Amino acid sequence: MTVRKAVIPVAGFGTRFLPVTKSVPKVLIPVLDHPAIHFCVAEATEAGISEIIFVVSRGQEAIAGYFEANPVLEAHLAGRGDDDRLRELHSINRMADVTTVVQEEQRGLGHAVLMARDKVGDEPFAVFLPDDIIRSEDPTIGAMIRIHEERDANVIAVKQVPDSAIPSLGIIDPVAGAGDVRRVKGMVEKPALADAPSDLAIIGRYVLTPQVFDAVARAGEGALGEIQLTDAIAALIDDPGVYAYRFPGDHFDVGTPVGMLKATINEALGRHEMRDELVRWMDTELKTRVT
Ligand code: UTP
Repeated sequence: MTVRKAVIPVAGFGTRFLPVTKSVPKVLIPVLDHPAIHFCVAEATEAGISEIIFVVSRGQEAIAGYFEANPVLEAHLAGRGDDDRLRELHSINRMADVTTVVQEEQRGLGHAVLMARDKVGDEPFAVFLPDDIIRSEDPTIGAMIRIHEERDANVIAVKQVPDSAIPSLGIIDPVAGAGDVRRVKGMVEKPALADAPSDLAIIGRYVLTPQVFDAVARAGEGALGEIQLTDAIAALIDDPGVYAYRFPGDHFDVGTPVGMLKATINEALGRHEMRDELVRWMDTELKTRVT
């Protein structure tokens, strides 16, 4: 069965981005001039997903607002003949059918996904963690949906990471073999380096079968006292199965200020109208400040 819906949990505290996240949802912090959430939704819709379900905390209405029409602003742009900006706003309004569910208490990612159960229903669905932006010609989630359709199983995106990063990530234990798609025989959230079964970390893209909801509901609190999505997916390893997809392309973790800065610079270097000015400025800064 094909995947039509994506769940995007955004209800976390965003502590690594304080103090701005005191009052601004982390996913609205811009990568240059688009909020971080724009990139996930664009990836989803490019892959044919038509319905986006945001799991929000109270007070985060502005996130869905980004995807809604703003008639006053649009009339202002039309009056000035600013057709390019108007066209872009219209394309954002039309990106997807957006709904929200509220997670009343931040009890972890698994719990956040469970909040979307009624909206997803009994069908496979995608999960995006908007901290992860992947720039790749073929949308990563689209490739994962194709793997799901071939194997009728759960699919998670993975990336090779350095040892220093392992204790803060979800790590998979893949069956022996090579290739970009490998069956998973174990998963562990935030292992000590010595206990890590591989150096392949879970990155925030998932295609999940609806059995995951029962698995989350059964899972107790795991690492950090939170209801972990990793523990629920691990319960599906034997049936219907879990596959890891090592995706191509550039990955940015915009959940931290330095990752956000890298993604922003990458975006700016791709814009011909600002590239030269930015490069000249960085060149001078690097020569004068870096010893
Ligand atoms: P993180 O663990 O990265 O937490 O959540 P966070 O709040 O975004 O950031 P830090 O670690 O405090 O800096 C992974 C994703 O799951 C969502 C977050 O919003 C983020 O998109 N999440 C997490 C929820 O929706 N609810 C939760 O209870 C926990």
